[in-house]
Amino acid sequence: MPRFSLTGRVALVTGSSTGLGKATALCLGQAGAKVAINYANNKARADAARTELREAGITAELFQADVTDEATVDQMVTAIEGSLGPVDIVVLNATPAQPLNPIEEYDWDFYEQMLDFFVKSPYLLARRVLPGMKARRHGRLINITSEVFQLGVAPFSAYVAAKGGQIGWSRSMANELAPYGITVNMIAPGWIPVERHANDPQEDKDAYLARIPVGRWGKPEEVGWAATYFASDEAAFVTGQTVAVNGGNTVW
Ligand SMILES: NC(=O)c1ccc[n+]([C@@H]2O[C@H](COP(=O)([O-])OP(=O)(O)OC[C@H]3O[C@@H](n4cnc5c(N)ncnc54)[C@H](OP(=O)(O)O)[C@@H]3O)[C@@H](O)[C@H]2O)c1
Repeated sequence: MPRFSLTGRVALVTGSSTGLGKATALCLGQAGAKVAINYANNKARADAARTELREAGITAELFQADVTDEATVDQMVTAIEGSLGPVDIVVLNATPAQPLNPIEEYDWDFYEQMLDFFVKSPYLLARRVLPGMKARRHGRLINITSEVFQLGVAPFSAYVAAKGGQIGWSRSMANELAPYGITVNMIAPGWIPVERHANDPQEDKDAYLARIPVGRWGKPEEVGWAATYFASDEAAFVTGQTVAVNGGNTVW
């Protein structure tokens, strides 16, 4: 059973119909939070995620919204407030596909898409939920970043640059929001295979696993439990920090 109680809290996890987001939604829900599941494109998958959460005894609702679009972010948060209550916890997690390519093969539209997901979307979500969080003197913004920033992974310049932007934004926001009882923290996962990695080359997987000190793959819920800690009251004195959930891949 989870050690940290989120009973009475409302959590929005962007992009939580699958992958790390769904696992995080399950962990927050198992800790007692009411959960807003967000997705943009695949309703059947989102329906299945909601069923999975509800079968685990979690109060969960679906909210379809493109989290890079200001109007739909506003409508989504209004809808969450109407059905679950004011948003206490936002996990900024949604992502599109992330192809690795040399810089000559990335156009600026792709760079912008990365920035839209990892810098614009946190900005839009924060602007929408912060007035309520400030009034209540409580809030939790949890950014899912990546170990790729610290490692300088290549050829991956657009994603790494955007994750770097997300990290800088989080650090600045942590200082700005600390006086209001709002914390801003980051989780930097290593490669944790989820549904979209099913067809990735086995030699890539073997090479990655070979360098992980813990000697096994991470599990999506290990990101979720880190988020549960950051979301908890017990983490009120922790802000602007990153926890690397990567089996020691960035220990040096
Ligand atoms: N898995 C890893 O190895 C790993 C490692 C390091 C960091 N991360 C980070 O962890 C986060 C989650 O990654 P993941 O691997 O779990 O991704 P994923 O399995 O591909 O899931 C992406 C989620 O985002 C949703 N989504 C896509 N476009 C959206 C939009 N415009 N608005 C709202 N939701 C949207 C998808 O739903 P729809 O398709 O229905 O829209 C889906 O729920 C990302 O920030 C990623 O960079 C992952």
